[in-house]
Amino acid sequence: MITIVGNLKGGSGKSTVTFNLAVWLATRGRPVVVFDLDPQRTLSDVAEVRHEEAFSPGFPVVHGGTDLAERLQAAEGEVLVDVGSADMASMRTALGLAQRVVIPVPPSQADIWSTQRFLGIIDEAVVSARPQVVAFVNRADTHIAIRESDEAEEALRALSGVEVIDLRLYQRTAYRRSFSEGLGVFELEPNSKAAAEFEAFASMLYP
Ligand SMILES: Nc1ncnc2c1ncn2[C@@H]1O[C@H](COP(=O)(O)OP(=O)(O)O)[C@@H](O)[C@H]1O
Ligand SMILES: [Mg+2]
Repeated sequence: MITIVGNLKGGSGKSTVTFNLAVWLATRGRPVVVFDLDPQRTLSDVAEVRHEEAFSPGFPVVHGGTDLAERLQAAEGEVLVDVGSADMASMRTALGLAQRVVIPVPPSQADIWSTQRFLGIIDEAVVSARPQVVAFVNRADTHIAIRESDEAEEALRALSGVEVIDLRLYQRTAYRRSFSEGLGVFELEPNSKAAAEFEAFASMLYP
């Protein structure tokens, strides 16, 4: 299955989520290939750190190109695609072929607006079947007194053409720490809240 992790805005957590899902799948012995279509190449960088540190399992990371559509269609196993708005042509090609789009949305009005715009781009990019489109709040505030995540989730539910996942990933330093070392959050800090949240999230996407 081709799953795109996408949104238009940078900093929503696309690369963090893609990397952690790839490690999570690989750890379970599921064949996974990541297409890094963001010219920032964050995913390629973190995969290189993981490779240099000889952490296993690894997984292949490939890039775009003129034959992107053919290679996406030929890819076997689980395909994860990290897209960035700096390469809209590749983003559209991938959206046209994906079975699923997962949208991380930080709890802010600007991110809700960009998500709405992204839903429009998904619809324009559909070639035959529209992919399943799911969104979730990422980087949710851990203080329960702060209502922004609830408000963001409510605003997401009001958008049409997207299912809102009943799980949040909270803003936790474990994501930054593990990412900079080339590790999944559940590898570096297996007993952390971040790890438990991510496990629940990944198991829901890949039951
Ligand atoms: N749930 C989270 N908790 C804490 N930090 C996060 C979380 N998700 C992403 N980040 C941080 O936010 C920044 C942007 O994330 P990144 O995955 O690079 O976003 P994108 O690929 O959408 O630009 C990074 O510094 C990353 O460590
Ligand atoms: Mg990125």
